[in-house]
Amino acid sequence: MSRNIRWALVLSLALIVLVIAAACAPAPTPAPTAAPPTAAPKAAAGGKLEIFSWWTTGGEAAGLEGVYALYKKANPGVEVVNATVAGGAGSNAKAVLKTRMLGGDPPDSFQVHMGHELIDTWVTPADKMEDLSALFTQNGLDKAFPKGVLDIVSYQGKPYSVPVNIHRANVLWYNKKVFAANNLTAPKTFDDFFKVADALKAKGIAPLALGDKDSFASVQLFETILIGTLGVDGYTGLWTGATKWTDPKVTDSLNTFKKMLTYTNSDHAALTWDQANDLLIQGKAGMTVMGDWIDGDYTAKKFTDYGWVASPGNDGIFDALSDTFGLPKGVKNRDNALKFLALLGSKEGQEAFNPKKGSICARSDCDPKLFDEYLQSAMKDWTTNKIVPSLAHGAAAKEGWLTSISDLVVAFVTKGDVAATQTALAKACVDAAVCK
Ligand code: GAL
Repeated sequence: MSRNIRWALVLSLALIVLVIAAACAPAPTPAPTAAPPTAAPKAAAGGKLEIFSWWTTGGEAAGLEGVYALYKKANPGVEVVNATVAGGAGSNAKAVLKTRMLGGDPPDSFQVHMGHELIDTWVTPADKMEDLSALFTQNGLDKAFPKGVLDIVSYQGKPYSVPVNIHRANVLWYNKKVFAANNLTAPKTFDDFFKVADALKAKGIAPLALGDKDSFASVQLFETILIGTLGVDGYTGLWTGATKWTDPKVTDSLNTFKKMLTYTNSDHAALTWDQANDLLIQGKAGMTVMGDWIDGDYTAKKFTDYGWVASPGNDGIFDALSDTFGLPKGVKNRDNALKFLALLGSKEGQEAFNPKKGSICARSDCDPKLFDEYLQSAMKDWTTNKIVPSLAHGAAAKEGWLTSISDLVVAFVTKGDVAATQTALAKACVDAAVCK
């Protein structure tokens, strides 16, 4: 049975899985559309362009600047307004965006994760986004992305945002010098992880750098433990109701999570993800589990002594997310925004953005030679691994459910109550109307 068919059968209930099932498949021939509601403008003459995101740190800011530079070159009369709200995974930006969107003051375009975050928050039931069918057709974007990616940025067959990248959330990064000095090899299993962690602890080095000032970092760590414990089907089933949150493997995951937390830096609650990464760069910590935007952080900080492996138990599994940009209804600079979206979707735009950002292109035709060694390995993994949707980054669960889980994880990090947390996680699934 082919990989695509297998995915379609096993995971047909999960929207994100459509990405996976067709990650390598050619894009379909678009169905003819009648009188498309959006059209790409010929030129952006002047005025402003306000782009909203949470990209403020090294590789994030650099990637964004890379695209802005191209945009400004092509549209010298347009003033680009870089509207950023700092906070990893949009921890602060999403609230600001909500106020603006509901208050009738949308930015010209904004960053939003592909999947539930886009569709369930802004397309339905809010109906706040423009259908981008015409933009896609006129710029060949309907043929540029894998079919699964197109499916997931679409609702009822119409695309609502332009995917600029693919990120991977389940990577364990380590300081090569620290590992070599202590004769350690990168852990593959949870048992390996704890052995390495004990060895580092004995040397006074923080085994696992964590910066969960923004709660996504601990949610993401937990998600990688769920994947490593439940496997692809078990983890994916959590988002469809096929896997019960009362499953003993969820108990195991919580116990592993609790144990892992005892190997983190004591000031983790005060640090952001990139500040935690600085501990690794400085050799004060040995490892960290983080998405591959950290690769962009290393590039921006000119740090090269890092190695990477899949998070414990995650070998062969790609925990995926994607940053996309859409067009809110009623923006002030619609034509300028359409030009920006066309650029973001283009080969040129994605090649300018992703090598700096630490992500791979959502398009299938970017030149691997422009990317560093880690990113080239991610490109390969994207087309060969089994793909699962990231929880912490809007792909697996709708926003309200993610918020409930995040709150439970934050409480768990301080209290460590396995039984109570598991009961509450099971209830959150019922409240999300996914579990009975
Ligand atoms: C993710 C986002 C990435 C990266 C990360 C840390 O949610 O998709 O692009 O920015 O947050 O802020």
